[in-house]
Amino acid sequence: MRPSHHLFVCGSFRANGERQGVCHKKDSMSLLSYLQNEIQDRMLDGVEVSVTGCMNLCTKGPVMIDYPKGHFYRVPNTGALDAILDAIEGGTVAQEFLLSE
Ligand code: FES
Repeated sequence: MRPSHHLFVCGSFRANGERQGVCHKKDSMSLLSYLQNEIQDRMLDGVEVSVTGCMNLCTKGPVMIDYPKGHFYRVPNTGALDAILDAIEGGTVAQEFLLSE
């Protein structure tokens, strides 16, 4: 079954497999593990997490996409992840962390 929210966190991977980029330097991997633990603690069904290569949004990083909703978020800290998960639980969108075009 497809997840209703698949959260893709930028891990800054380049094509050669190296991690080079703002998201990695701003510790997106710590955010990833916080996110995974928080999803478990909240027992959120239908929410999956994956790590990605650079999304070419480096200046706004760390960044995360909520797929298939299509929401692009900046996630500067764990508080942002809490707000986004609160919004997912409430069926809303964490407007304050949405990336504008
Ligand atoms: S390193 Fe994350 S968007 Fe480029």
